[in-house]
Amino acid sequence: MSSNGALIRIEGLHKSFGPKKVLSGLELDIERGETMVVIGGSGTGKSVLLKHIIGLLKPDGGEVYVDGEAVSALDEKGLNRLRRRFGMLFQGAALFDSMNVEENVGFALTRHSMMSTAEIAERVAGCLEMVGMPGIQKLHPSELSGGMRKRVGLARAIALQPEIILYDEPTTGLDPIMADVINNLIVEMQERLKVTSIAITHDMVSAYKIADRIAMLYQGKIIETGTPDEIRNTSNRVVEQFIKGDSSGYQQGDSR
Ligand SMILES: Nc1ncnc2c1ncn2[C@@H]1O[C@H](COP(=O)(O)OP(=O)(O)O)[C@@H](O)[C@H]1O
Ligand SMILES: [Mg+2]
Repeated sequence: MSSNGALIRIEGLHKSFGPKKVLSGLELDIERGETMVVIGGSGTGKSVLLKHIIGLLKPDGGEVYVDGEAVSALDEKGLNRLRRRFGMLFQGAALFDSMNVEENVGFALTRHSMMSTAEIAERVAGCLEMVGMPGIQKLHPSELSGGMRKRVGLARAIALQPEIILYDEPTTGLDPIMADVINNLIVEMQERLKVTSIAITHDMVSAYKIADRIAMLYQGKIIETGTPDEIRNTSNRVVEQFIKGDSSGYQQGDSR
């Protein structure tokens, strides 16, 4: 099933919450350096999938391997080491409202690195510059628009210079122009930082723009994987319905 070069291998992942089966034998490989976009309706288990990759949720069955290491077997120390390899842009950016932008972006550096205050300030300035928002260190999240918050969230995600960036719905809730700004930034991160990325979204404009490959999550499984062109020309009826936004017969969130 999986090729040897895959940085992240997801094998036969099962997860239920009570009687509700969310993931049922999900298989997916993410190659080193690629941007994989997982698409699917809301409530289909996209965020649940991301949480398994960084060990925030434990599978009922199956396994996630990062660089050959089984995530569910890691203890707290191992999980912390693993998570340091990841940058995460959470849904809604999840900034700390009581901290200014500088403290938000530098948060992980202050806690998880041996860097001096001056080094952290320099790194934070560089990250803000990279997301096109230089000089806003002293602003608070409440003073920022939705798009600016996403950009600060992205600056924070790259602050520890991660190998892998996870994006949870990076464009949801943004107007089309701001969504395009974020999409361009994701592509730029990819080119400049050479990271491996996984983005989950139900926004097909974003998926086509940022993906090397797209995978469709439906009823607990990945039902098709392909390049943006392959997905555009899919012969799978369910995928076709999703990408065209045709809701007839499509069972949203249904994951038997
Ligand atoms: N911690 C949890 N406890 C119970 N149910 C959960 C939990 N996390 C997610 N779910 C359920 O799993 C399903 C998939 O959720 P999620 O992965 O957030 O969907 P999405 O594809 O929109 O990101 C939803 O029905 C949600 O209610
Ligand atoms: Mg979600």
